[in-house]
Amino acid sequence: MFDSPFDAVDFAGMRLRNRFALAPMTRVSAEANGRANEAMVDHYVRYAKGGFGLLITEGIYPDQAASQGYEHQPGLADALQTESWVPIVKAVHAADSKIIAQIMHAGAQLQYNRYVEQPIGLSEQTPVATPLGLYGDQEAWYEPKPMTETDFDQVMNGFLGAIRNAQAAGFDGVELHGANGYLLHEMLSTYFNTREDKFGGSLEKRAKFILDLVKSAREMVDDDFVIGIRLSQITITDQDYQWPEGEQGFRWLVESLAEAGIDFIHTTDISVDRVALRDSDKSLAQVVREAGVALIVNGGINEDNIEQIAEAYPDALMALGKAALADPAFVRKVQGEEPVEQLDFAMLQPIANVENEMRWRAEQKDA
Ligand SMILES: Cc1cc2nc3c(=O)[nH]c(=O)nc-3n(C[C@H](O)[C@H](O)[C@H](O)COP(=O)(O)O)c2cc1C
Repeated sequence: MFDSPFDAVDFAGMRLRNRFALAPMTRVSAEANGRANEAMVDHYVRYAKGGFGLLITEGIYPDQAASQGYEHQPGLADALQTESWVPIVKAVHAADSKIIAQIMHAGAQLQYNRYVEQPIGLSEQTPVATPLGLYGDQEAWYEPKPMTETDFDQVMNGFLGAIRNAQAAGFDGVELHGANGYLLHEMLSTYFNTREDKFGGSLEKRAKFILDLVKSAREMVDDDFVIGIRLSQITITDQDYQWPEGEQGFRWLVESLAEAGIDFIHTTDISVDRVALRDSDKSLAQVVREAGVALIVNGGINEDNIEQIAEAYPDALMALGKAALADPAFVRKVQGEEPVEQLDFAMLQPIANVENEMRWRAEQKDA
Protein backbone atom coordinates (compact mmCIF):
# COMPACT_ATOMS: atom_id res chain seq x y z
CA MET A 1 0.00 0.00 0.00
CA PHE A 2 1.13 3.56 -0.59
CA ASP A 3 -0.09 6.79 0.93
CA SER A 4 -3.02 8.31 -0.86
CA PRO A 5 -2.11 11.43 -2.86
CA PHE A 6 -5.10 13.05 -1.18
CA ASP A 7 -3.47 12.82 2.27
CA ALA A 8 -1.61 15.76 3.82
CA VAL A 9 2.17 15.82 3.35
CA ASP A 10 5.25 17.66 4.50
CA PHE A 11 7.04 18.81 1.39
CA ALA A 12 10.21 20.92 1.27
CA GLY A 13 9.32 22.38 4.66
CA MET A 14 5.68 23.12 3.76
CA ARG A 15 2.68 21.34 5.23
CA LEU A 16 0.33 20.72 2.30
CA ARG A 17 -3.17 19.28 2.45
CA ASN A 18 -2.45 16.90 -0.43
CA ARG A 19 0.10 16.10 -3.13
CA PHE A 20 -1.55 18.00 -5.97
CA ALA A 21 0.06 21.13 -7.38
CA LEU A 22 -1.16 23.51 -10.03
CA ALA A 23 1.55 23.62 -12.72
CA PRO A 24 2.79 27.09 -13.70
CA MET A 25 0.73 28.47 -16.57
CA THR A 26 1.24 31.78 -18.31
CA ARG A 27 -2.12 33.49 -18.70
CA VAL A 28 -1.10 36.93 -19.97
CA SER A 29 -3.87 38.54 -17.90
CA ALA A 30 -2.01 41.15 -15.84
CA GLU A 31 -2.22 44.91 -16.38
CA ALA A 32 0.02 46.28 -19.13
CA ASN A 33 2.38 47.58 -16.41
CA GLY A 34 2.87 44.07 -15.00
CA ARG A 35 0.63 44.42 -11.97
CA ALA A 36 -1.59 41.53 -10.95
CA ASN A 37 -5.30 42.32 -10.83
CA GLU A 38 -8.71 41.27 -9.52
CA ALA A 39 -9.29 38.77 -12.35
CA MET A 40 -6.08 37.00 -11.35
CA VAL A 41 -7.24 36.76 -7.71
CA ASP A 42 -10.38 34.94 -8.86
CA HIS A 43 -8.35 32.86 -11.28
CA TYR A 44 -5.94 31.52 -8.65
CA VAL A 45 -8.55 31.09 -5.93
CA ARG A 46 -10.50 28.73 -8.20
CA TYR A 47 -7.64 26.24 -8.00
CA ALA A 48 -7.26 26.57 -4.23
CA LYS A 49 -10.99 25.99 -3.80
CA GLY A 50 -10.77 23.18 -6.33
CA GLY A 51 -8.48 21.32 -3.96
CA PHE A 52 -4.90 21.93 -5.16
CA GLY A 53 -2.66 21.89 -2.07
CA LEU A 54 0.05 23.96 -3.78
CA LEU A 55 -0.27 26.55 -6.53
CA ILE A 56 2.71 27.49 -8.64
CA THR A 57 2.07 30.77 -10.40
CA GLU A 58 2.58 31.53 -14.05
CA GLY A 59 6.09 32.65 -14.99
CA ILE A 60 6.64 36.13 -13.48
CA TYR A 61 9.30 38.46 -14.82
CA PRO A 62 11.94 39.57 -12.32
CA ASP A 63 13.31 42.86 -13.69
CA GLN A 64 12.40 45.86 -15.80
CA ALA A 65 15.01 45.08 -18.40
CA ALA A 66 14.94 42.12 -20.81
CA SER A 67 13.17 39.55 -18.62
CA GLN A 68 9.55 40.13 -19.65
CA GLY A 69 8.61 37.74 -22.43
CA TYR A 70 4.90 38.32 -23.03
CA GLU A 71 2.49 41.21 -23.19
CA HIS A 72 0.31 41.32 -20.06
CA GLN A 73 2.71 39.04 -18.21
CA PRO A 74 2.90 39.94 -14.50
CA GLY A 75 6.13 41.08 -12.83
CA LEU A 76 7.73 41.11 -9.39
CA ALA A 77 10.19 43.80 -10.31
CA ASP A 78 9.03 46.86 -8.34
CA ALA A 79 7.07 47.81 -5.23
CA LEU A 80 3.72 48.20 -6.99
CA GLN A 81 4.00 44.91 -8.84
CA THR A 82 4.98 43.27 -5.55
CA GLU A 83 2.01 44.76 -3.68
CA SER A 84 -0.33 43.69 -6.45
CA TRP A 85 0.35 40.03 -5.58
CA VAL A 86 -0.63 40.41 -1.91
CA PRO A 87 -4.41 39.94 -2.45
CA ILE A 88 -3.72 36.78 -4.47
CA VAL A 89 -1.43 35.30 -1.84
CA LYS A 90 -3.85 36.15 0.97
CA ALA A 91 -6.89 34.72 -0.84
CA VAL A 92 -5.05 31.50 -1.69
CA HIS A 93 -3.87 31.10 1.91
CA ALA A 94 -7.39 31.74 3.16
CA ALA A 95 -8.54 28.88 0.94
CA ASP A 96 -5.97 26.59 2.62
CA SER A 97 -3.40 26.27 -0.17
CA LYS A 98 0.22 27.38 -0.38
CA ILE A 99 1.49 29.47 -3.27
CA ILE A 100 4.90 29.70 -4.90
CA ALA A 101 5.95 32.33 -7.44
CA GLN A 102 7.61 31.07 -10.60
CA ILE A 103 10.37 33.51 -11.54
CA MET A 104 11.02 33.49 -15.25
CA HIS A 105 13.50 35.39 -17.40
CA ALA A 106 12.46 35.10 -21.04
CA GLY A 107 15.98 35.15 -22.51
CA ALA A 108 15.86 34.60 -26.27
CA GLN A 109 12.32 33.25 -26.04
CA LEU A 110 10.85 36.73 -25.91
CA GLN A 111 7.70 37.74 -27.76
CA TYR A 112 7.01 41.14 -26.19
CA ASN A 113 8.84 43.42 -23.78
CA ARG A 114 7.74 46.88 -22.68
CA TYR A 115 11.16 47.92 -21.35
CA VAL A 116 13.75 47.00 -24.02
CA GLU A 117 14.02 46.71 -27.81
CA GLN A 118 16.02 43.49 -28.01
CA PRO A 119 16.13 40.21 -26.06
CA ILE A 120 19.32 39.07 -24.40
CA GLY A 121 20.61 35.54 -24.77
CA LEU A 122 23.65 33.36 -24.40
CA SER A 123 24.45 33.82 -28.08
CA GLU A 124 22.70 35.17 -31.17
CA GLN A 125 20.84 31.88 -31.51
CA THR A 126 17.07 32.19 -31.80
CA PRO A 127 14.73 29.43 -30.57
CA VAL A 128 13.71 26.76 -33.10
CA ALA A 129 10.41 27.03 -34.99
CA THR A 130 8.15 30.04 -34.41
CA PRO A 131 6.68 31.88 -31.39
CA LEU A 132 3.49 30.57 -29.73
CA GLY A 133 0.26 32.24 -30.87
CA LEU A 134 -1.19 31.33 -27.47
CA TYR A 135 0.52 34.35 -25.92
CA GLY A 136 0.11 36.98 -28.63
CA ASP A 137 0.83 37.71 -32.26
CA GLN A 138 4.48 37.35 -33.20
CA GLU A 139 5.66 35.82 -36.44
CA ALA A 140 9.37 35.34 -35.91
CA TRP A 141 11.83 35.40 -33.01
CA TYR A 142 13.94 38.49 -32.44
CA GLU A 143 17.67 37.95 -32.62
CA PRO A 144 19.04 38.19 -29.08
CA LYS A 145 22.03 40.25 -28.01
CA PRO A 146 24.70 37.97 -26.53
CA MET A 147 24.99 38.74 -22.81
CA THR A 148 27.96 40.66 -21.46
CA GLU A 149 29.31 40.17 -17.93
CA THR A 150 27.32 43.25 -16.93
CA ASP A 151 24.17 41.60 -18.26
CA PHE A 152 24.87 38.49 -16.17
CA ASP A 153 25.29 40.70 -13.08
CA GLN A 154 22.05 42.54 -13.84
CA VAL A 155 20.15 39.30 -14.35
CA MET A 156 21.50 37.98 -11.04
CA ASN A 157 20.41 41.15 -9.24
CA GLY A 158 17.02 40.96 -10.96
CA PHE A 159 16.40 37.40 -9.80
CA LEU A 160 17.53 38.16 -6.25
CA GLY A 161 15.37 41.30 -6.14
CA ALA A 162 12.31 39.40 -7.34
CA ILE A 163 12.90 36.61 -4.82
CA ARG A 164 13.10 39.24 -2.06
CA ASN A 165 9.88 40.78 -3.40
CA ALA A 166 8.16 37.38 -3.48
CA GLN A 167 9.00 36.92 0.18
CA ALA A 168 7.73 40.43 0.97
CA ALA A 169 4.44 39.70 -0.84
CA GLY A 170 3.88 36.69 1.41
CA PHE A 171 4.56 33.88 -1.06
CA ASP A 172 5.61 30.57 0.52
CA GLY A 173 8.53 30.35 -1.86
CA VAL A 174 9.76 30.67 -5.42
CA GLU A 175 10.39 28.34 -8.31
CA LEU A 176 13.23 29.39 -10.61
CA HIS A 177 12.22 28.67 -14.18
CA GLY A 178 15.11 26.61 -15.48
CA ALA A 179 13.01 24.72 -18.05
CA ASN A 180 11.29 25.03 -21.43
CA GLY A 181 13.85 27.22 -23.22
CA TYR A 182 13.79 30.40 -21.11
CA LEU A 183 17.01 32.10 -20.00
CA LEU A 184 18.16 29.75 -17.20
CA HIS A 185 17.44 26.78 -19.46
CA GLU A 186 19.33 28.48 -22.29
CA MET A 187 22.39 28.69 -20.03
CA LEU A 188 22.34 24.90 -19.64
CA SER A 189 21.51 24.19 -23.28
CA THR A 190 24.32 23.69 -25.80
CA TYR A 191 21.90 24.75 -28.54
CA PHE A 192 21.75 28.29 -27.13
CA ASN A 193 24.93 28.40 -25.09
CA THR A 194 27.84 28.27 -27.52
CA ARG A 195 30.00 30.60 -25.42
CA GLU A 196 33.68 30.10 -24.91
CA ASP A 197 33.99 32.27 -21.80
CA LYS A 198 33.40 31.29 -18.16
CA PHE A 199 29.64 30.88 -18.79
CA GLY A 200 30.00 28.32 -21.60
CA GLY A 201 31.62 24.99 -22.38
CA SER A 202 31.36 22.19 -19.81
CA LEU A 203 28.11 21.59 -17.91
CA GLU A 204 29.90 22.82 -14.77
CA LYS A 205 30.49 26.17 -16.47
CA ARG A 206 26.99 26.34 -17.97
CA ALA A 207 25.44 25.67 -14.56
CA LYS A 208 27.64 28.01 -12.51
CA PHE A 209 25.33 31.05 -12.72
CA ILE A 210 22.33 28.98 -11.60
CA LEU A 211 24.22 27.39 -8.71
CA ASP A 212 25.51 30.81 -7.60
CA LEU A 213 21.96 32.18 -7.81
CA VAL A 214 20.59 29.38 -5.64
CA LYS A 215 23.36 29.87 -3.05
CA SER A 216 22.88 33.64 -2.90
CA ALA A 217 19.10 33.31 -2.71
CA ARG A 218 19.34 30.74 0.07
CA GLU A 219 21.59 33.03 2.11
CA MET A 220 19.29 36.00 1.52
CA VAL A 221 15.84 34.64 2.42
CA ASP A 222 14.37 33.25 5.65
CA ASP A 223 15.03 29.57 6.37
CA ASP A 224 11.38 28.63 5.88
CA PHE A 225 11.09 30.37 2.50
CA VAL A 226 11.14 27.66 -0.15
CA ILE A 227 13.45 27.83 -3.17
CA GLY A 228 12.90 25.31 -5.94
CA ILE A 229 13.77 25.02 -9.60
CA ARG A 230 12.00 23.65 -12.65
CA LEU A 231 14.12 21.65 -15.11
CA SER A 232 13.54 20.01 -18.49
CA GLN A 233 15.38 18.96 -21.60
CA ILE A 234 12.57 20.06 -23.93
CA THR A 235 11.65 23.64 -24.78
CA ILE A 236 8.26 25.07 -25.75
CA THR A 237 9.12 24.70 -29.44
CA ASP A 238 11.65 21.85 -29.41
CA GLN A 239 10.68 18.49 -27.96
CA ASP A 240 13.82 16.76 -29.20
CA TYR A 241 16.54 18.71 -27.40
CA GLN A 242 18.95 16.66 -25.27
CA TRP A 243 22.11 18.00 -23.78
CA PRO A 244 25.29 16.03 -24.47
CA GLU A 245 25.96 15.11 -20.82
CA GLY A 246 22.99 12.71 -20.56
CA GLU A 247 21.91 11.13 -17.30
CA GLN A 248 25.29 11.49 -15.65
CA GLY A 249 25.23 15.26 -16.19
CA PHE A 250 21.68 15.54 -14.93
CA ARG A 251 22.56 13.60 -11.78
CA TRP A 252 25.53 15.92 -11.22
CA LEU A 253 23.28 18.99 -11.64
CA VAL A 254 20.64 17.65 -9.25
CA GLU A 255 23.26 16.87 -6.60
CA SER A 256 24.97 20.25 -7.09
CA LEU A 257 21.64 22.07 -6.73
CA ALA A 258 20.97 20.14 -3.52
CA GLU A 259 24.39 21.16 -2.18
CA ALA A 260 23.68 24.77 -3.14
CA GLY A 261 20.54 24.65 -0.99
CA ILE A 262 17.67 23.95 -3.38
CA ASP A 263 14.51 22.77 -1.57
CA PHE A 264 12.86 20.96 -4.47
CA ILE A 265 13.30 20.09 -8.13
CA HIS A 266 10.30 20.18 -10.45
CA THR A 267 10.81 18.07 -13.55
CA THR A 268 8.70 18.74 -16.60
CA ASP A 269 8.41 16.64 -19.71
CA ILE A 270 5.91 15.47 -22.29
CA SER A 271 5.04 12.69 -19.85
CA VAL A 272 6.37 12.03 -16.35
CA ASP A 273 7.96 8.70 -17.31
CA ARG A 274 9.47 9.59 -20.68
CA VAL A 275 13.17 8.82 -21.09
CA ALA A 276 14.39 12.34 -21.74
CA LEU A 277 18.15 12.11 -21.41
CA ARG A 278 20.76 10.79 -23.78
CA ASP A 279 22.44 7.52 -22.61
CA SER A 280 19.67 6.82 -20.13
CA ASP A 281 16.72 4.56 -19.53
CA LYS A 282 15.27 6.81 -16.85
CA SER A 283 12.93 9.77 -16.71
CA LEU A 284 14.16 13.09 -15.30
CA ALA A 285 11.92 12.45 -12.31
CA GLN A 286 13.52 9.08 -11.59
CA VAL A 287 16.99 10.62 -11.47
CA VAL A 288 15.84 13.30 -9.01
CA ARG A 289 14.09 10.68 -6.93
CA GLU A 290 17.22 8.52 -6.75
CA ALA A 291 19.22 11.55 -5.60
CA GLY A 292 16.82 11.95 -2.67
CA VAL A 293 15.81 15.54 -3.51
CA ALA A 294 12.21 16.68 -2.93
CA LEU A 295 10.47 16.23 -6.27
CA ILE A 296 7.54 17.65 -8.19
CA VAL A 297 6.65 15.61 -11.27
CA ASN A 298 4.84 17.02 -14.28
CA GLY A 299 3.73 15.99 -17.75
CA GLY A 300 0.54 14.32 -18.90
CA ILE A 301 -0.95 13.65 -15.46
CA ASN A 302 -4.71 13.13 -15.58
CA GLU A 303 -7.54 11.33 -13.80
CA ASP A 304 -6.56 7.99 -15.36
CA ASN A 305 -2.92 7.86 -14.28
CA ILE A 306 -2.69 9.68 -10.93
CA GLU A 307 -2.75 6.45 -8.90
CA GLN A 308 0.03 4.92 -10.95
CA ILE A 309 2.19 8.07 -10.76
CA ALA A 310 1.49 8.57 -7.06
CA GLU A 311 2.66 5.02 -6.47
CA ALA A 312 5.76 5.31 -8.67
CA TYR A 313 6.83 8.58 -6.99
CA PRO A 314 5.52 8.12 -3.45
CA ASP A 315 6.97 11.28 -1.92
CA ALA A 316 6.52 13.57 -4.91
CA LEU A 317 3.97 16.24 -5.61
CA MET A 318 2.12 15.91 -8.90
CA ALA A 319 1.79 19.14 -10.90
CA LEU A 320 -1.08 19.35 -13.34
CA GLY A 321 -1.22 21.77 -16.24
CA LYS A 322 -3.83 20.99 -18.90
CA ALA A 323 -5.97 18.81 -16.63
CA ALA A 324 -6.17 21.68 -14.14
CA LEU A 325 -6.90 24.17 -16.88
CA ALA A 326 -9.75 21.98 -18.10
CA ASP A 327 -11.19 21.65 -14.63
CA PRO A 328 -9.98 23.88 -11.77
CA ALA A 329 -11.91 21.60 -9.37
CA PHE A 330 -9.99 18.55 -10.62
CA VAL A 331 -8.69 17.49 -7.20
CA ARG A 332 -11.98 17.87 -5.36
CA LYS A 333 -13.86 16.04 -8.10
CA VAL A 334 -11.42 13.14 -8.48
CA GLN A 335 -11.36 12.69 -4.72
CA GLY A 336 -15.16 12.62 -4.72
CA GLU A 337 -15.13 10.22 -7.70
CA GLU A 338 -16.98 12.73 -9.85
CA PRO A 339 -16.24 13.09 -13.59
CA VAL A 340 -13.90 15.96 -14.57
CA GLU A 341 -14.11 18.36 -17.50
CA GLN A 342 -11.84 17.68 -20.50
CA LEU A 343 -9.68 20.38 -22.08
CA ASP A 344 -11.01 22.24 -25.08
CA PHE A 345 -8.31 24.52 -26.49
CA ALA A 346 -11.06 26.83 -27.72
CA MET A 347 -10.99 28.36 -24.23
CA LEU A 348 -7.49 29.68 -24.95
CA GLN A 349 -8.40 31.40 -28.23
CA PRO A 350 -7.38 33.77 -29.65
CA ILE A 351 -4.90 34.05 -26.77
CA ALA A 352 -4.59 32.15 -23.48
CA ASN A 353 -5.86 34.83 -21.13
CA VAL A 354 -8.37 34.44 -18.32
CA GLU A 355 -10.89 36.73 -20.00
CA ASN A 356 -11.14 34.44 -23.04
CA GLU A 357 -11.43 31.41 -20.78
CA MET A 358 -14.27 32.97 -18.79
CA ARG A 359 -16.10 34.05 -21.94
CA TRP A 360 -15.79 30.50 -23.32
CA ARG A 361 -17.05 28.99 -20.04
CA ALA A 362 -20.05 31.33 -19.99
CA GLU A 363 -20.88 30.36 -23.59
CA GLN A 364 -20.73 26.65 -22.68
CA LYS A 365 -23.15 27.23 -19.83
CA ASP A 366 -25.57 29.13 -22.05
CA ALA A 367 -25.43 26.56 -24.85
C1 LIG B 1 -1.42 27.78 -21.31
C2 LIG B 1 -0.14 27.22 -20.76
C3 LIG B 1 0.80 28.08 -20.19
C4 LIG B 1 1.99 27.60 -19.64
N1 LIG B 1 2.86 28.47 -19.03
C5 LIG B 1 3.95 27.98 -18.37
C6 LIG B 1 4.77 28.83 -17.55
O1 LIG B 1 4.52 30.04 -17.40
N2 LIG B 1 5.82 28.28 -16.92
C7 LIG B 1 6.13 26.94 -17.04
O2 LIG B 1 7.11 26.48 -16.45
N3 LIG B 1 5.36 26.11 -17.79
C8 LIG B 1 4.28 26.59 -18.42
N4 LIG B 1 3.44 25.72 -19.11
C9 LIG B 1 3.74 24.27 -19.10
C10 LIG B 1 2.95 23.57 -17.99
O3 LIG B 1 3.36 24.00 -16.71
C11 LIG B 1 3.15 22.05 -18.07
O4 LIG B 1 4.50 21.76 -17.88
C12 LIG B 1 2.71 21.46 -19.39
O5 LIG B 1 1.40 21.88 -19.74
C13 LIG B 1 2.73 19.92 -19.34
O6 LIG B 1 1.98 19.45 -18.24
P1 LIG B 1 0.47 18.90 -18.43
O7 LIG B 1 0.60 17.69 -19.32
O8 LIG B 1 -0.01 18.58 -17.05
O9 LIG B 1 -0.31 19.98 -19.09
C14 LIG B 1 2.27 26.20 -19.68
C15 LIG B 1 1.33 25.34 -20.28
C16 LIG B 1 0.14 25.82 -20.79
C17 LIG B 1 -0.85 24.85 -21.38
